[in-house]
Amino acid sequence: MTGHAPRNAPSLDAFWMPFTANRQFKAAPRLLVSAEGMHYRADDGRTVLDGTAGLWCVNAGHGRQGIAAAVERQLGTLDFAPTFQMGHPIAFEFAERLAAIAPGPDGGKLDRVFFTGSGSESVDTALKIALAYQRAIGQGTRTRLIGRERGYHGVGFGGISVGGILANRRVFPQLPGTDHLRHTHDPARNAFTKGQPAHGMELADDLERLVALHGAETIAACIVEPVAGSTGVLIPPTGYLERLREICTRHGILLIFDEVITGFGRLGAPFATDFFGVTPDLVTTAKGLTNGTIPMGAVFASRAVHDALMQGPDGIELFHGYTYSGHPVACAAGLATLDIYGQEGLLTRAADLSEDWAAAFHDLRGRKGVTDIRTLGLIAGIELASRPDAPGKRAYDVFVDCFARGLLIRVTGDIIALSPPLIVTRDQIGEMAETLGAAIDRAA
Ligand SMILES: Cc1ncc(COP(=O)(O)O)c(C=O)c1O
Repeated sequence: MTGHAPRNAPSLDAFWMPFTANRQFKAAPRLLVSAEGMHYRADDGRTVLDGTAGLWCVNAGHGRQGIAAAVERQLGTLDFAPTFQMGHPIAFEFAERLAAIAPGPDGGKLDRVFFTGSGSESVDTALKIALAYQRAIGQGTRTRLIGRERGYHGVGFGGISVGGILANRRVFPQLPGTDHLRHTHDPARNAFTKGQPAHGMELADDLERLVALHGAETIAACIVEPVAGSTGVLIPPTGYLERLREICTRHGILLIFDEVITGFGRLGAPFATDFFGVTPDLVTTAKGLTNGTIPMGAVFASRAVHDALMQGPDGIELFHGYTYSGHPVACAAGLATLDIYGQEGLLTRAADLSEDWAAAFHDLRGRKGVTDIRTLGLIAGIELASRPDAPGKRAYDVFVDCFARGLLIRVTGDIIALSPPLIVTRDQIGEMAETLGAAIDRAA
């Protein structure tokens, strides 16, 4: 097919777009050509308020000169160097800076850092570290990986195997030996909750069920998103993560928090681990690590996990890594990002805004078709009733309408998700809620 292209712009045919209805998009493209602060500019010159921090990643807002300058300097100094049996100082420097703010309490921080190139790579890395750890401590029968229904852990084979979103799985074979907890979405009991829902802690006992079914001695790790994002914002019930931690500990199962979206300030603490006060054994991150500027991920590991793999005869301890693990330019971007987060207090700013954020979006309760609203930190999920025979269409219409009126939101099925840059102002929060509310009315 020949895609429509704006004047003086490239043809849209060659780029096979990810997670996109390619034919639909190319018939009516939405193109962003520049960005600064809280706004994108579309190819027709309109400004668009960024309600999604790009894709949950531009936490410090767009066009940060400090990051651009650091990247340029690094490209002129050391553009690339390997990290396999070689090193360069900036990767160690970045890991050290990350270790200082790593998830977990003082004295128990997950302060050993494995660099990757993306969230998906972080997930597969964490799963492999968990398997290697179990073998290293003499628990080699533990090869089973537990995820959760509706979970999103990227698109690698490991990630889709523990993930729980049907569309991402159905066409592809998966790793053998995985199983899933039930998800925690329970609108009948929890609809329109601000913050953590009251009901559902007992769903963590699903892990006990899987232990009874498979035997703890077969289970290496359990991975969950502390707040599930891509499936449409599912906030953990009060006590749920605590109970999951307790069950994992009791059965020798490693707990992995996938913090690819919650890492770097989204909830008002540096990590969800800190926000909820529940410490897993491994934490996966990406996105906000470099403010979305240069692709990079990082897995944070506890000392216990790391140190168990630093035993044995001299030689390579973990046969795993990526050409771009600790890429110097990504490290430069990450260090500059951490400077901005620190100088502007962005890793905790969401805590100051979260009440106003919640109030603005819970105000949409009562609009036609809105069946649930859930908020935490600077995340909101607004669930709409699906149109009969057209699931997802109502939210998609809202998405297109919002974009036409200068607001970028994200939709999954009939759920709208918002997660703005952490520099958002109260006025901009109001603007988002107003634009969205009007679009929901028009889609009713
Ligand atoms: C929780 C979670 N894990 C993993 C990923 C995958 O990250 P990436 O797209 O960088 O591979 C995402 C992306 O949205 C995510 O939300």
